[in-house]
Amino acid sequence: MNYTIEELQDRIKTIANLPTLPDIASRLMRIVNSPTASADMVAAVVSQDVSLSAKVLRLANSAFYGVPRSINTLNNAVIILGFKIIQTMVLSLTVFDMFIDNSENGKGAAFDRDEFWRHSLRCGVVSRLLAHKRKRSLAIDPEEAFCAGLLHDIGKVVMEQYLNTDLRRALRYASDNNLSCFEAEKEALGYTHCDVASWLTGSWSLPSEIEQPLVCHHEPDEATISADSVMICHIADILSKIKDGDEAAKTEAVEKLEGKAKLLGLTKHNLIEIIEEIPAEMERASMFISR
Ligand SMILES: [Fe+2]
Ligand SMILES: [Fe+2]
Repeated sequence: MNYTIEELQDRIKTIANLPTLPDIASRLMRIVNSPTASADMVAAVVSQDVSLSAKVLRLANSAFYGVPRSINTLNNAVIILGFKIIQTMVLSLTVFDMFIDNSENGKGAAFDRDEFWRHSLRCGVVSRLLAHKRKRSLAIDPEEAFCAGLLHDIGKVVMEQYLNTDLRRALRYASDNNLSCFEAEKEALGYTHCDVASWLTGSWSLPSEIEQPLVCHHEPDEATISADSVMICHIADILSKIKDGDEAAKTEAVEKLEGKAKLLGLTKHNLIEIIEEIPAEMERASMFISR
């Protein structure tokens, strides 16, 4: 990688100008973490964005959360689902909205956006299933796991929008050398979509259980904090690439991941169960990425 001084200056400028977290999401994060937070306060923040409120209500009533009775107001949504679910829901929705490509399916885009978000949602869904199945003693919040999984590759979308020439260079390098995107970014650019995620979210004050998986999901051993959340995302990323019904890929992935799953208190059998639950769970979660 031989960048000219101008090219490097361009990149530094780009990094300094990466988008900040939408105001509603950052306010909500502050409120939820304060000991005096109330359902009224949380609902009041969300209600400032009409389309976000409508989406939160639709999701709150969706099969994904499985609430048996209907939820008609934001206040009720906060009381019934709890602060944590509302917080991760709003974070997922606002970040997704920041990077949704409104052009006709990303005409001229470096990669297929629909495919990208389907993979992201699948990783979120699998992360949530993994978190649910863990031993109680190793408890991890399933909603945070979902949010981290949904956003795990966000660095790629940032590259596509802000560092497009680099992303294209890395993708070409990956296909010429039969490498994964992550390896190609390392070799061809000297930085990866995980570095970009850390530059992006550095000032967002996300909980480390959400931020660390975005930064370390390809190298879980590098995580110094929230290692379990990172491992969940790492395993989910691999499992989510298995096509429904591909038995050979399923067996191979389960064998490969057995040791890592054990670190989370999960067995091979748990992984197989989770893979089988993916299609139905994807159906229930689909509203997250519908425009
Ligand atoms: Fe990735
Ligand atoms: Fe991924």
